[in-house]
Parts: sequence; C-alpha cells; structure tokens
Amino acid sequence: MSLLVTGVGELLTNDPEHGVGAVGRRHDAALVIEDGRVVWVGDARRAPAADDFHDVEGRAVIPGLVDSHTHLVFAGDRADEFAARLEGRPYDGGGIWTTVAATRAASDDELRHATRERRHQLARSGVTYVEAKSGYGLSVSDEARLVELSGEVADEVTFLGAHVVPEEYRTRREEYVTLVSTEMLGRVPGAHWIDVFCDAGAFSVEEAREILLAGRAAGKGLRLHTNQLADLGGARLAAELAVASADHLTYVSDEDLGALGDAEVVATLLPGAEFSTRSPYPDARRFRERGVVVALATDCNPGTSYITSMTLVIALAVRECHMSVDEAIWSASAGGARALRRNDVGSLRVGSRADLAILDAPRVTHLAYRPGAPLVHALYRRGVREF
Ligand code: NIG
Ligand code: FE
Repeated sequence: MSLLVTGVGELLTNDPEHGVGAVGRRHDAALVIEDGRVVWVGDARRAPAADDFHDVEGRAVIPGLVDSHTHLVFAGDRADEFAARLEGRPYDGGGIWTTVAATRAASDDELRHATRERRHQLARSGVTYVEAKSGYGLSVSDEARLVELSGEVADEVTFLGAHVVPEEYRTRREEYVTLVSTEMLGRVPGAHWIDVFCDAGAFSVEEAREILLAGRAAGKGLRLHTNQLADLGGARLAAELAVASADHLTYVSDEDLGALGDAEVVATLLPGAEFSTRSPYPDARRFRERGVVVALATDCNPGTSYITSMTLVIALAVRECHMSVDEAIWSASAGGARALRRNDVGSLRVGSRADLAILDAPRVTHLAYRPGAPLVHALYRRGVREF
C-alpha cells in the first residue's frame, strides 16, 4: 500500500541530493511512502501514482525529530528545586538523589504510565525516534528495571548506572564504580549504549574511563554527559575514547572542541538544561567553526530540564545558541541520528524510514518564530499516521 504525501509548501529532506543546501530544501514537493520507507521524493507535479494520497495543503514538512538524549523513566518531580533555583540556588546534581528515592518507590505500572505520557508529549512536538537512559535506579535491580521500562517506549536505550554515587556507597565510591562496571552492566542486555555523568559532584575522568571501557568490552556503544557544570577534562576523555556523543558541553575549551571534531564525536547540546538551570548557553558557532557536528535534544529529566517539546528546544537553540533555523532543525533530526549513529532516520531521502512531521505552518521558520505554539499538525512514524 503506497501513500503519496502531496501539496508540500516547503519540504526539508536533510539530504543535499534531494534539494537545496544541507537541509535539502524543496518547494511544491511530494513524497511517496511504502512499507514504512520513503520510496520517492520530488516535484509535486511529477509525482507518480499511489494507492492513496494525503494533500497537506501547502504546509511545511520536516523529517520526524530525533530526541537523542532523554531520561524519560522517573517518578515524582522537583518543582521546589526549580523554584529555589530561580531564587538563586545553583544546580549541583544533588537533587538526583530525590528522584532516585521516588523512582525506587514507584511500581512498574506507575513508571509506565508517567513515561508513556512524556513520550506522547514528545510525539506531539514532532519526535518520531527517541533515546532514553536509566540512571534513577542506581542499584542492580533498579537499573535493570529502568532499562527494561525504557525499552518499552524508547527506540534506543542507554545504561546510566553511573549517574551519581548512591547514598549507600557514599564512603565506598570505588566499590560502586566496580559494581557498575561488572554486575550491573551484566544485567542490562536491553541497553545498546552506556553513559556516565562525568562532572563536578558526579564521576571523575578516571572513574568514567574505567566504566566506559568496561561498557565497550561488553559491546555497548559509548556516550558521555560532561562539562555541564565544570571542565574536569571529560570532553578530552570523550575525544580520547571517540564516544558517539558528548552531551551538554556548556563549559568547553576551543582546544577540546577541536579534539572532539577530529575524533568525530557528535556534540549534543541541551539548551533546555541551560534554560532550567539559568546557565550560560553554549554558542553553536564555536562548535561549527571547529568541525564538530551538533545534535539537539531535550534532556527530559525532572532536575535540569523537565521539557518534553523538541520544538521549544529548536526555538531556544535559535535564540540562545546562535543557530539558524535550518541548522537547529537539522541538528534536532539528522544531528540526533548522527549522535545515535543511525542513517535510516532523521532525513527524508529515498530509503529513509517514513518518519515525518507535517507542520501547521507554510514555512519551517515558524518553529522558532512562534515558540510555544502547537505547530505539529500530523505525524507519520514508519509510514503510519500517529495523529
Ligand atoms: O542530564 N547531568 C546529569 N543528569 C541530568 C540531570 C539529572 C537530574 O538532575 O536529575 C542531566 O542534566
Ligand atoms: Fe542528561
């Protein structure tokens, strides 16, 4: 059963061979999807016949957004911590423990319900592909449980047993590093990735290296939360290990950016975290000038970024990180795909997964120009219309 999506006022394909510029822009376009894939892209007047059609009446169409960094599975919230921050209390990662306690106390069904709701909100903002991390369990059984639950809603799962050292290991942190690198790691077969929070108040560079190398030996891909609160040398470690993605990078030197670019590490910027913690936003121009590919993601979590809207992230990146609208949309789709090392999502070329968002706007610029407006009119995932 083939479907012709036609009447597209503006189409971003994210493929220079399918349109103009890095975003592969076309006007008056159409595409044909079949068996969950894009099989044709071109001028609407030359579109081939299909079994069915959807005339989008001049709306803009973009690739489904890829949210490559979330912490979707958690219980409770930290609204009081957020309010205190607005009165001047800085973020130091200490609140993670509050969420760990609430998450451990929640039943599977409670967590499922809350996580599904957040996943649904992401879809409403145009997300068709999502990564989710564990990290609010921090015991062997709770991390195994959160990885399983993440796999129920996310397309890719990351094991983040090394989020912070849990209370019960406060005086025995080496034992916790060993636990994460051995027994806990062995209990999370559903996680394709491993991540560490390498930052002030969390894990040191040496601890992060030990955990990531254990993950690599167990067959996991590597990612790193780093340089969010301070520059402890985590970005350098990310380059040394050539991790797939280094995330946050709020405080990073030009030299380390050069090393990340050389090692082909994607920089995942999370402006929702700067927004929610009142921190300085990273300037994406510095990354681009040093050849670093940038992804954008929500970092949805109850502490630093309780944000379930990728369109808000795009608007923040344009306004605060000095990205053009095209760059921000590319980073929120193709960039996220690169951060997850996938080439079948994040673009609309022939052969891509038929994941697309139809906007209630004639031009994609509206995504940054009208922040907060519910601009996603319809969403297709693997060729199936979700709403
Ligand atoms: O990505 N930085 C570490 N982890 C999360 C925040 C976790 C929390 O505060 O609950 C983040 O910002
Ligand atoms: Fe995070």
